[in-house]
Amino acid sequence: MDFSNVYEDARRAEAYSKLEFPGTYYLAYRDLPGIISDHIEGFDALDFGCGTGRSTRFLQRLGFNVVGVDISEEMLRKAREIDPEGNYHLIVDGDFSQLKRKSFDLVLSAFTFDNIPTMKKKAEIFKGIRRILKNQGHLINLVSSPEIYFHEWASFSTKDFPENKHAKSGDEVRIIQIDTEDKRPVIDILWTPDYYQATYEKSGLNIIETYKPLAKTSEPYRWVNETRIAPWTIYVLGRTSE
Ligand SMILES: C[S@@+](CC[C@H](N)C(=O)[O-])C[C@H]1O[C@@H](n2cnc3c(N)ncnc32)[C@H](O)[C@@H]1O
Repeated sequence: MDFSNVYEDARRAEAYSKLEFPGTYYLAYRDLPGIISDHIEGFDALDFGCGTGRSTRFLQRLGFNVVGVDISEEMLRKAREIDPEGNYHLIVDGDFSQLKRKSFDLVLSAFTFDNIPTMKKKAEIFKGIRRILKNQGHLINLVSSPEIYFHEWASFSTKDFPENKHAKSGDEVRIIQIDTEDKRPVIDILWTPDYYQATYEKSGLNIIETYKPLAKTSEPYRWVNETRIAPWTIYVLGRTSE
């Protein structure tokens, strides 16, 4: 399949760079500090698919020494503009050779795998991440749950794409981000939990814990389905032994 990264785009990068943690994004990040403190020892982190640096700055605020990497020059340009002191690098898709083996306590990937097509490509990248994790290091992989693509949310709409309901792992799905100025649909790749499990196994990673955060009615957002359906899935992964 010929899949092109929708974030390779100046207008999208400009709109994304203004996003902080509204609505459904708040829910994606809400539990990460607790999850990180429960599982991660050490402070060397890589933000894989750092985009305009929102997730990188989030890790910095938690006290990590963070390197952000992305394949989109447009997204990185905005990240560097917002955070000139930050450490952001362009990488070639799937190539981790500029990063030292076994050097990170934490690799965070926030939404990045939603945009990576095929089992082969995902496994190649997971293996690359495994290579740069310290023996006791972890990957936290925050991804869209399949359900995000066929419901309405505080920050997303999918009602114009009823075909999403029939998508299988590896198919393209469309979603509109309500909170940004750029209302063109984002094209993601659907990947179900059983496919993730199989891809992790192929890549020498094992699931330590899976979180599916739900919103609370006491939170100051106009939740749509977030209190009963989890739009995000957060996997905490470790290296399987050699
Ligand atoms: C939805 S954005 C998320 C950005 C950031 N993690 C955040 O939470 O704000 C996804 C990012 O993943 C990047 N990306 C997609 N495929 C990638 C790949 N193969 N390697 C590295 N980054 C990739 C895109 O360019 C985009 O910047």
